[in-house]
Amino acid sequence: MAKTRTVYTCSECGGQTPKWQGQCPHCQAWNTLTETQVVPAAASPRFQAWAAQAVPVQRLADVQAQELPRDPSGIDELDRVLGGGLVRGSVVLIGGDPGIGKSTLLLQALSTMGLMQSVLYVSGEESPQQIALRASRLAVDTRSVKLLAEIRLETILSTLRDEAPEVAVIDSIQTLYTEQVTSAPGSVSQVRECAAQLTRMAKQTGTTILLVGHVTKEGSLAGPRVLEHMVDTVLYFEGEAHSSYRMIRAIKNRFGAVNELGVFAMTDRGLKGVSNPSAIFLSSYRDDVPGSCVLVTQEGTRPLLVEIQALVDDAHGFQPKRLTLGLEQNRLGMLLAVLHRHAGIACFDSDVFLNAVGGVKITEPAADLAVLLAIVSSLKNRALPEKMVVFGEVGLAGEVRPVTRGQERLKEASKLGFQRAIVPTANRPRQAIEGFEVITVDTLAEAVEYCRSV
Ligand code: TYD
Ligand code: MG
Repeated sequence: MAKTRTVYTCSECGGQTPKWQGQCPHCQAWNTLTETQVVPAAASPRFQAWAAQAVPVQRLADVQAQELPRDPSGIDELDRVLGGGLVRGSVVLIGGDPGIGKSTLLLQALSTMGLMQSVLYVSGEESPQQIALRASRLAVDTRSVKLLAEIRLETILSTLRDEAPEVAVIDSIQTLYTEQVTSAPGSVSQVRECAAQLTRMAKQTGTTILLVGHVTKEGSLAGPRVLEHMVDTVLYFEGEAHSSYRMIRAIKNRFGAVNELGVFAMTDRGLKGVSNPSAIFLSSYRDDVPGSCVLVTQEGTRPLLVEIQALVDDAHGFQPKRLTLGLEQNRLGMLLAVLHRHAGIACFDSDVFLNAVGGVKITEPAADLAVLLAIVSSLKNRALPEKMVVFGEVGLAGEVRPVTRGQERLKEASKLGFQRAIVPTANRPRQAIEGFEVITVDTLAEAVEYCRSV
């Protein structure tokens, strides 16, 4: 047996150092280095590379591009996130907190896909009995779902080769281990190697592989970042544990748009797609409450109405609190500075709390104006004009900048019964919308002034 050597491996990037350090020298992440044992590789024949044979190259224009065949997953909201179904031979990584519904969703998808295609469910976490129990709870048709409870990668690869399923689910990538790597299952090198081999298999055989990935405390996929680079599509589950709504977002998609959002509700019969998510995000919305403002955000191709709540209260500590749920905390600090400088409204002796209701994460700057109006409304203890929606990005000079797809956002708001909107001037709709008043503003101060005057 070869003598092993101790190195320190980063759990973020997989980089190695011979000595322990607080910070990874490769990716600059803190406290990510863990002790690992490696078997030194035999002296590599480094200079043989020069002797390798060259191969002919081709002109890009001569390559025949074909439309990639897609298979619907049988779940509309999942297909929406994937960009219209699963591309054959692609590898999809699905990440999310424990218990959020990854296994449930994939079992539901496999049972419908099984009617048209050959499918295989590989589970390293649950026994066949547990999976059968879940399937009976979900009341899905499992006659065509083949099952394998296994964690050894070599066995899984051989089975995949023999069975040649069209779609395979690996639940989860962190439980697998390969004999080619000495470290424990779930370690960076194991996860990376297993994912790489499965990806190669998918490309060679045309089997579509769905990998389930666990999420660390910090919220990123456990295992190295390379996992995200290796696969074709990365989907993340979002949502609060205590709410029954679950969102799936595409973070990376080689075959479709990113930031598309699929919305589900967790019921006693598994996950059900929600075709009109704006309605659920607004379900408990009352427009006579100070500190509440409805934002129209755009998630991929679909506009969504989300209530933004702000609470501004006297600060008692040395440093006032700035807390956000579902919105960016750093951006809040910046927006408060803009509010002070360009609208003359100061919050430096107040705590500011922000919440995007429903557990949806909002990343686009189009939320700025709604955030600021909610804050002003809470600070002044005065509700905003009723049946009103807001969107627009706020710049450092206090200007309100246009956002994409303004017309569609306004249409969605009007469809849901809203009657007016404050929007950036450049987003003024080309055609008037019946029964809907559009107030256009160039600066934050104008928007604040409008709300005050109504
Ligand atoms: P699961 O799919 O096991 O989560 P993951 O694989 O992401 O860890 O999700 C299980 C959770 O969903 C569990 O807390 C119970 C709940 N659940 C329901 O509410 N209804 C159902 O029909 C099922 C199967 C699960
Ligand atoms: Mg699971």
